[in-house]
Amino acid sequence: MKRLVVLTGAGMSAESGIKTFRDMGGVWEQYDVMEVASPEGWARHPEVVLEFYNQRRKQLFECLPNKGHYLLAELENYFDVQIITQNVDDLHERAGSTKVLHLHGELKKARSTADPTLVYDLDHWELKLGDKCEKGSQLRPHIVWFGEPVPAINDAEKKVRKADIFIVIGTSLTVYPAAGLLMDVLPGTPVFLIDPGELNIPGGLNVTHIKKKASEGIEELKSILINEN
Ligand code: APR
Repeated sequence: MKRLVVLTGAGMSAESGIKTFRDMGGVWEQYDVMEVASPEGWARHPEVVLEFYNQRRKQLFECLPNKGHYLLAELENYFDVQIITQNVDDLHERAGSTKVLHLHGELKKARSTADPTLVYDLDHWELKLGDKCEKGSQLRPHIVWFGEPVPAINDAEKKVRKADIFIVIGTSLTVYPAAGLLMDVLPGTPVFLIDPGELNIPGGLNVTHIKKKASEGIEELKSILINEN
């Protein structure tokens, strides 16, 4: 089976009602990213950071995967599909995708501040000061904050280099190292970008920009790929 590697961003979950970050009215218009999504913000006021993620986690418990998530899961019937997502929601998994690599962490998980290998599933939306790991240290959101390393990036780069087709959906390609994955495809690899907005696409790539929302764009791409397959 051909290997499809799919990089998704916030636009993938927009049709599920989850705000993107940099569109009009996006998350970073409402919050100061360094206050709520950085180690400095956590050190200064952990309760503000916990509340920021509690609100997003609460919304996620009420959201559903959209048609685009289900179409990507369906593509597993025709291709070896590896999703690499910048999103911290679990909508790809809930739609049935079986290979999902989270670059920026997972909203429904918490991590020990004493031992980062201690990661816990959260079946409730609220994480509070005083919620501790088995070693007695405060739990934090299992999210990669600005300024923190991205542990999964090497694994992601290896997967992109093996891609027969690379698909990028709903990301402004402005945050590194995730955005740099575009340059990891082998020369000549077909790249499809699905995004209704304008994107500054680097030269030298074999890129097709499907200027549509995720669900419509994936529908169009699915018929292209299956007809070619
Ligand atoms: N379908 C597809 N794409 C969409 C849709 C939609 N319905 N709506 C918006 N988009 C596109 C926008 O045009 C934009 O290119 O999704 C992209 C969203 O970009 P950002 O808001 O910057 O989100 P993202 O690229 O995922 O941000 C990367 O930044 O804040 C950090 O860690 C956070 O993972 C996030 C990272």
